[in-house]
Amino acid sequence: MTLAALHQTQLALAPMAGITDLPFRQLTRQFGAQWAASEMVTVNPDLQHTAKTRHRQNHAGESGVIAVQIAGSDPAQLAAAAQHNVALGAQVIDINMGCPVKKVCNVLAGSALLQNEKLVAQILNAVVRAVNVPVTLKTRLGWDDAHQNIPTIAQIAEDAGIAALAIHGRTRSQMYRGQAQYELIAAVKQQSRLPIWANGDITSPQKAAAVLAQTGANAVMIGRGAQGQPWLFADIQHYLQHGTLPPPMPFQAASATILRHLAAMHTFYGDNAGTRIARKHIGWYLARIPNSQTVRQQLNQINHAGEQYDYLANYLAAQAQQYAYWPRDYEAA
Ligand SMILES: Cc1cc2nc3c(=O)[nH]c(=O)nc-3n(C[C@H](O)[C@H](O)[C@H](O)COP(=O)(O)O)c2cc1C
Repeated sequence: MTLAALHQTQLALAPMAGITDLPFRQLTRQFGAQWAASEMVTVNPDLQHTAKTRHRQNHAGESGVIAVQIAGSDPAQLAAAAQHNVALGAQVIDINMGCPVKKVCNVLAGSALLQNEKLVAQILNAVVRAVNVPVTLKTRLGWDDAHQNIPTIAQIAEDAGIAALAIHGRTRSQMYRGQAQYELIAAVKQQSRLPIWANGDITSPQKAAAVLAQTGANAVMIGRGAQGQPWLFADIQHYLQHGTLPPPMPFQAASATILRHLAAMHTFYGDNAGTRIARKHIGWYLARIPNSQTVRQQLNQINHAGEQYDYLANYLAAQAQQYAYWPRDYEAA
């Protein structure tokens, strides 16, 4: 069942710490994301009881496959963390070797690991052997321009029994600079029997179609492009089926979606944390509404959930007089 879902996936939400929480994953699934891994959870047993980890491990009512992401550099610790998360309900374990942020990934975790192919093999083998659920891998092209070893990593992953491979078309040293490159993803797809998911800078239906065509990848994985427009997945689905964009989201429907998302965050995190965490999502939504800057600033000052909701609802109702559709930035791309 889980493996079938994995093999059928064409549209995946990229894991983003602090963003792709349960409310956001559920929302993107409603718009056609077929896969949505959780935010990375810590493998450090001492940190497994913080509020942050508890929220990241909360999958109550999750409608899709529960895929939990872990990162680290110690094979035994990663294997133990994988088992711990399977015991908590994970149906897939995703290993993050794509993270360029030292603070997030500690010294050797994330994409720094790519320099040590032997250790990569040890980690993948240890995690695959430790659990009886599919294990997926998310990584980058390599650690810098001169060392783009993703073809070797893909082979290691296949040999270790990894179930799918998501590749962000940048190297670690690039961080988020420059443009994602897809040529090597295409080469890996040619060489590998694994489902390959292409990731990086896919922000429109046209780009999604182009990347799928260029790489032959089984799926596109979308992160930042979905911020403030979870309905992007529906537009991509339509574009892939019909070769045209669907009509934009009616303003009223988008407003209702946004308010539903806001209420879900308040419920999931509680009023205080929910109000704080919702601010960035509100900012992304409203960024596409011209002249919304002052309103966004005012919304950031509000510390009460009910007040935040009412303020946003009133603002959206007023804007609905002016806009028939929610603006999108790929109209004529
Ligand atoms: C704020 C933020 C948080 C991220 N957190 C994670 C994470 O926890 N795990 C992971 O594998 N990648 C993480 N990423 C990387 C994304 O999954 C993705 O690979 C990257 O953003 C490129 O895709 P995009 O251009 O579609 O955003 C994060 C990216 C951003 C912007």
